[in-house]
Amino acid sequence: MKVLFIGDIVGSIGRDAVEQYLPRLKKKYNLDVVIANGENAAAGRGITRAIYNDLLQMGVDIITMGNHTWDNKDIFDFIDDADYLVRPANFSKDAPGRGMTQVSKNGVTISVINLHGRVFLPPHEDPFAMAVEMVEEAKKTSPIVFVDFHAEATSEKIALSWHLDGKASVVVGTHTHVQTADNRIYPGGTAYITDVGMTGPYDEVLGMGKDNVIYKFLTNMPARYEVPKKGRAVLSAFFIEIDDKTGKAIRQERVLINEDNPFQA
Ligand SMILES: [Fe+2]
Repeated sequence: MKVLFIGDIVGSIGRDAVEQYLPRLKKKYNLDVVIANGENAAAGRGITRAIYNDLLQMGVDIITMGNHTWDNKDIFDFIDDADYLVRPANFSKDAPGRGMTQVSKNGVTISVINLHGRVFLPPHEDPFAMAVEMVEEAKKTSPIVFVDFHAEATSEKIALSWHLDGKASVVVGTHTHVQTADNRIYPGGTAYITDVGMTGPYDEVLGMGKDNVIYKFLTNMPARYEVPKKGRAVLSAFFIEIDDKTGKAIRQERVLINEDNPFQA
């Protein structure tokens, strides 16, 4: 199975970049499944039903979330019907929605699990114990298991990935919006990258308009962070090929597209 994971889609610039490049990426990598983190898709904060539907229309199969899951209140109206949206599994057991979902393509099933880190982020249930339990549960259906660990601290992401080596097919980190260059396949067969990076405004601060961010650093005064609607885009992604029978990753490649690194067919 060939899978592309698109890093945190931020605002309309990010959504437009997906629309522009996904058809070309599908062709280049002969993709079976596309997963994307959409927790910043609605102007940087959460996701709406319309944006969820638009992303599926563009060819995204499964959307993962993170600490901004509940920021756009629209989500409470559709999350329980959204079969292809996963929010962190280690949220409260009373939270609506689901922490894992599955999709089948060309006769092969992939399970997608979303987890939330606990270092420098609001506290949630233990993602380490939950990850192992959920991966084991998912493997009863298919050996192919994908984990998006939405977390701030590099150490926490690397630790979880080693904890899942040989268990999950892929562990990706999301949330920091800056792509790391440590992509690899571990000895047990788990593909990993500490952060996939973001898909959104290229010339700002993590997707937020840079002038207000700089003002806040200069003055320590409150500033409104907004995602610009115009400007250059970056698309960050991670490609993985997984053996259908063993569930082990056999090939991986970091994808970064912007004007300094143009798309190559
Ligand atoms: Fe986040």
